[in-house]
Amino acid sequence: MPASRDARPQPRSPLVVEGAVKHFGGVTAVDGVGLEVASREVVGVIGPNGSGKSTLFNLIAGMLALDEGRVWLDGREVTGLPAWRIARAGLARTFQIPSLFDNISVRDNLLAAAVEGDWKGAPGRAGEVLEMLEIGHVADNLASELSGGQQKLLEFGRVCMRDPSVILLDEATAGVHPKIRRIMLEAIRRVREAGATFLVIEHDMEMVRETCDRIVVMDAGRVVVEGSFDEIADNREVRRAYLGRRE
Ligand SMILES: Nc1ncnc2c1ncn2[C@@H]1O[C@H](COP(=O)(O)OP(=O)(O)OP(=O)(O)O)[C@@H](O)[C@H]1O
Ligand SMILES: [Mg+2]
Repeated sequence: MPASRDARPQPRSPLVVEGAVKHFGGVTAVDGVGLEVASREVVGVIGPNGSGKSTLFNLIAGMLALDEGRVWLDGREVTGLPAWRIARAGLARTFQIPSLFDNISVRDNLLAAAVEGDWKGAPGRAGEVLEMLEIGHVADNLASELSGGQQKLLEFGRVCMRDPSVILLDEATAGVHPKIRRIMLEAIRRVREAGATFLVIEHDMEMVRETCDRIVVMDAGRVVVEGSFDEIADNREVRRAYLGRRE
């Protein structure tokens, strides 16, 4: 790596993104996004459909290659590393559509998530996660038998099994029953208290207001506004960006 690129000190925050760019053919899905998430902060990413939120997550997680830009995790540059190495470095994520092992039990889905980590402690940890997410009563059911909301809880549970430093949640409460949303919000609060840092994509403004310390608003691949819920709620740019949203 050229010395000039590292002329400044490595960022210390758990997650730092600098100048992220991603093109898909003629579409610039992410157009120069920079952000920094402090330790134990919960930062919300909002913006209309197609504004680049999920693509940004894929770039951070190494599931898509950056065309430009850099990413640091816990002060270590992870730009260009494959997704599995970024995961091992302490990043975990959920998907907009849950990605579970459908044909094994809920408990085994949790255990499988710990396969690269603390294997011995996994059964005990799985018990705690089942309790925290209130899915203990379906622990022996197949993942495919769960409701959509329970599948989202299980996906978050798989993230919790690995004790990550930074957690990316892509619409973790979209379309779920209010009871499940409450369980999810409480679990996020507990995991954050235990030391995790969150970046969450949300369309649900109630969830954003309750959970996020700070909000980043994206439109057409760019960050257009950043601030507290109250700061962004009245912003003209935000209202304009949201004219096209689906709710
Ligand atoms: N794999 C891909 N190939 C081509 N274009 C893509 C791909 N993924 C995303 N895009 C395009 O990039 C833009 C941003 O999409 P992205 O999924 O990141 O938006 P989003 O903000 O997550 O939207 P939503 O709120 O609907 O989930 C869109 O124009 C989308 O069509
Ligand atoms: Mg998306």
